[in-house]
Amino acid sequence: MGKMWAGRTSGITDSIADDFNSSIRFDYKMFRQDITGSMAHALMLGAQNIITKEEADTLIAGLEGILSDLESGALEFDMTAEDIHMFVEAVLTERLGDVGKKLHTARSRNDQVAVDLRMYLRDEVDEISELIREVIRALIKQAESYKAAIMPGYTHLQRAQPVTFGHHMMAYAMMLLRDLSRIADCRKRMNISPIGCCALAGTTYNTDRRLEASELKFDGIAINSLDGVSDRDYCVELCSALSILMMHLSRMSEELILWTSWEFKFIELDDAYTTGSSIMPQKKNPDMAELIRGKTGRVYGDLMGILTVLKGIPLAYNKDMQEDKEGIFDAVETVQMCLRVLAPMLDTMKPIPENMKRAAQKGFINATDLADYLVKKGLPFRSAYKISGQLVAKCIAEGKVLEELTLSEYKEFSDLFEDDLYNEISLETCVEKRISEGGTSVKSVEAQIDYVKSQL
Ligand code: ARG
Repeated sequence: MGKMWAGRTSGITDSIADDFNSSIRFDYKMFRQDITGSMAHALMLGAQNIITKEEADTLIAGLEGILSDLESGALEFDMTAEDIHMFVEAVLTERLGDVGKKLHTARSRNDQVAVDLRMYLRDEVDEISELIREVIRALIKQAESYKAAIMPGYTHLQRAQPVTFGHHMMAYAMMLLRDLSRIADCRKRMNISPIGCCALAGTTYNTDRRLEASELKFDGIAINSLDGVSDRDYCVELCSALSILMMHLSRMSEELILWTSWEFKFIELDDAYTTGSSIMPQKKNPDMAELIRGKTGRVYGDLMGILTVLKGIPLAYNKDMQEDKEGIFDAVETVQMCLRVLAPMLDTMKPIPENMKRAAQKGFINATDLADYLVKKGLPFRSAYKISGQLVAKCIAEGKVLEELTLSEYKEFSDLFEDDLYNEISLETCVEKRISEGGTSVKSVEAQIDYVKSQL
């Protein structure tokens, strides 16, 4: 295809340079945004009498035709074109003749690509937010069903205090709520229109930037044209919000992987979300969870890529910025794939409360409650802590758990122990008494579920 910008140079480029320079193999994805952006531009040019109303109508109809032909497959992308913007304009001019050449009045590819990318990511962000809500709904469902299922809560991956499976699920729901809010916040700054900044300095035409922005459902316009065409903060912000989201999904995946192991067996994943081994017949592998954990690295890489591309470029547009797209597209698509598989995997997962309970019974997980028992009888916490620790040591030496020691054995350590201690250290009591806001009791977890529901 002849270069539309031939003039200053012959426009004849080496084919290797052409391939190197071309971005259509990835920016074709923005064709809808490019075309609707151009329709709004034509409308504005007509409204401002920069072109005639008839010309504007012709351009809009021509663009509509291209959009529907691309959607239906009647028109194919020309992969030798320089980018999606040049491709659409070339087809338009081919179809409309000279009128087509008027579309690019008072515009540059620099503000065009910036507006396209913002619109594209805005749509992707909305999709991601909905997918996150799906995952939260699956977490809530599990939390509601297993709000009383006792499991060991861990610190340092050592059994620490009893919690419930529902409480654990809701911890992830909280993380995802923050992710939703971070992404919504990023969308606000993303939803500012750069169109009309033109190449870098604005334009001498009597344009109406706000009309064009509101046609395209932006909340406002970039106030400085140099900034408008060179700002990619929204890519960095989105990619960092997505990196944080992936970090959460990766932590959750790590737990799912641990929990499906025979060492834990707290949950069983549905067959639909596991794989077998080509050699070991007994295997049922949590590949989806492992891939989510693995793909987290990819999204972090995308973030580092975008940050590094931007760090050294002077104002305003530089071709380096074409490198923004593959990274952010990859991040967005990776996150969407992960969320799409995670939601049904969580939804169909089968917790195994007996195994959780059994694990909780083994690890002296009620030692804090034993100490608290003595505190309530008047002993200072540090002294109570010490006695409780000595009792644990005795149990370990004798291969017992706290529930198995007799009252007279307890009395050797402190006169304050009475028969009611056994009720106090039962796992059910340990959980039920943790009624502080945010705590693990069924009541507290129900409040957490209500809160998350209200935020959706
Ligand atoms: N394909 C280019 C990009 O993605 C479009 C903008 C080109 N602008 C220019 N002045 N060469 O950044």
